[in-house]
Amino acid sequence: MKIFLIGFMGCGKSTIGKSLAKKNNKKFIDLDILIEKKIGKSINKIFNEDGEEYFRYLEKENLLDVCKLGNIVVATGGGTPCFFDNMNLMLKNGIVIYLKMKPKDLSRRLKEKKKERPLLNKIKKQDLEKNIREILNQRRGVYEKANLILSDLNFEEKNLVELLR
Ligand code: S3P
Repeated sequence: MKIFLIGFMGCGKSTIGKSLAKKNNKKFIDLDILIEKKIGKSINKIFNEDGEEYFRYLEKENLLDVCKLGNIVVATGGGTPCFFDNMNLMLKNGIVIYLKMKPKDLSRRLKEKKKERPLLNKIKKQDLEKNIREILNQRRGVYEKANLILSDLNFEEKNLVELLR
């Protein structure tokens, strides 16, 4: 069985994905890392040098590839479900879990990590929450098509252990 974790940047998809995979003896795949390894460039560099459209194409192609694999947990990128028919593809191929988190909490978590995110790295810290809210409003409809929504969890390591027990 395949499990796809979706949600906004910084909501904990990779952290929870790794634990979920370990706990269930599944292989863990981080879609962004898969793309970076295949192309030999960071996500930031792909956005800067080749543009978002090309990144979205790579994201779709790699999602199609992981759909051919078996027993895996996939941490997707924050935008993955929102482009092409990616969301339907995931729903058809496995269980989709949305890690829902409030803009305020996302903003707190992303403040020091926005450099690695091409969609956020030019936004001033004081505008971050407002910006997150705007993008989230555009994406919410797609995210909420997930099979399961886990809301406002604090994905710090100690809580994660509890959650997966
Ligand atoms: C993106 C999220 C990022 C990465 C890219 C675009 C988005 O992944 O795929 O920067 O559109 O929300 P994370 O959610 O892992 O940060």
